[in-house]
Amino acid sequence: MGVIKKLLLIGVVVGIGAVIYPLVVTPQHKLPELKDKWFGKTPLKSGEAFPKESVAIDKFVVNVSEDVLTDLKRRLESARYVEPIAGTAFNYGFNSDYLKKVIAYWRNTYDWRKTETILNQFPQFKTRIHGIDVHFIHVKPSKPAKTVVPLLITHGWPGSVWEYYKAIPLLIEPTNGVAFEVIVPSIPGYGFSEAPHQEGFNIMETARIFVKLMNRLNHKTFFVHGEDWGSIVSKTMAQLYPNNVRGMHITMAQLVYDGPTIAKMMLGSYFPALVFDDPERDHKKLFPFLDQFYMILRESGYFHLQATKPDTVGAALMDSPVGLAAYILEKFSTWTEPKWLNKADGGLTQKFTLDELLTNIMIYWVSNNVASSMRYYKENAGLLMDDMNKIPVLVPSAVADFPNELGHAPKALLRTTLPNLVQYTDMPRGGHFAAFEEPQLVCDDIKTFVATVLDIELSAKDKLKNTKQ
Ligand SMILES: *[C@@H]1O[C@H](CO)[C@@H](O)[C@H](O)[C@H]1NC(C)=O
Repeated sequence: MGVIKKLLLIGVVVGIGAVIYPLVVTPQHKLPELKDKWFGKTPLKSGEAFPKESVAIDKFVVNVSEDVLTDLKRRLESARYVEPIAGTAFNYGFNSDYLKKVIAYWRNTYDWRKTETILNQFPQFKTRIHGIDVHFIHVKPSKPAKTVVPLLITHGWPGSVWEYYKAIPLLIEPTNGVAFEVIVPSIPGYGFSEAPHQEGFNIMETARIFVKLMNRLNHKTFFVHGEDWGSIVSKTMAQLYPNNVRGMHITMAQLVYDGPTIAKMMLGSYFPALVFDDPERDHKKLFPFLDQFYMILRESGYFHLQATKPDTVGAALMDSPVGLAAYILEKFSTWTEPKWLNKADGGLTQKFTLDELLTNIMIYWVSNNVASSMRYYKENAGLLMDDMNKIPVLVPSAVADFPNELGHAPKALLRTTLPNLVQYTDMPRGGHFAAFEEPQLVCDDIKTFVATVLDIELSAKDKLKNTKQ
């Protein structure tokens, strides 16, 4: 045999081995052990014991001082605008002809004091955990229900708890005797939660703080739902605290690039029928690969900035409400419908009202928290490719896949990380801000999932009883 042939043969054997090895041997990933970490203003000295904190839960009301509103008015009035290139829509970013209209509405029509009463329709609280004040909404069922299920909802970037104001009334309404007690915290560094003062506030720390929050509210076990960062935080909670999380429901499920998933993706790209549940539909979720890749490249510039030097852009956005609105609202355009890149108004008011959109901006503005919200990317950048992702989620899981979501994970590729996937829904319409855009679809899906899990829990209990007898 010639040298070339031998090398080729070795190459083929190594190649096949590389694909088969991870299929046969699934590496065991150990859960990291999390110690309480301090994020308060004054750093702990080395060796200093973790401070004993008050566990008080204080009522919180959104009530911004008149000074903040006067200052905002002045800034909006003195804004400067770029001249858009003739004939372009949102292709160069937020079109400033339309931006002027948004800002005119903000100045002349938008009513913050009225918004405050809307925001305050749900009870809100703050409590101190690991040195920072954590803000959360806490709403009990609208009427007595046979079964009350605690549900923790986590938002993402550039969103806020505001995204769930349409969903909360649907969730607290009993369906077949089941209603939710809903807890919606602001991630520390977002909205009305205090920004962490020390380095390292990532998804794992968020998970730890949120479990403590739920325990403080006397919920040892609960369900979790999330989108964007919230879906990753929910998954992290399910991985790290399987004894606390009864079930996980997320939109935007992440693909984990472990051996079996990569092997299935490669095989599925040529032979969809061998891999996918619905070959035609699921193949389109990932391929043509280059189309997906260019879309992600176009939409993810912000990610690179925020994962490396968030405070630089942060400085500009903290100083300019117009810049803040452009930077954030641009995401509500293409992340809701990628084609709206070609609309002069970014399609922004097709699914949302300007009032709804500006309230989310106001939450970033009045809390002065946009830079800290962007730091979350830097704190988490290293973790997204970490082995941590490969730890399977053992609790019952559900994924709602929206057609205009930024990325898709077909069901067949989720089985290694979500071995207990009991529900996967291909949604008829909707994009990234699912609960904000399609609250009914999201809430119905959560309710169906939780009903299934309650049934599973019940039959497991019955089985246990029968074996004892
Ligand atoms: C907001 O604060 C002002 C001034 O402190 C106070 O007069 C007003 O009653 C507060 N509003 C609410 C809704 O708490």
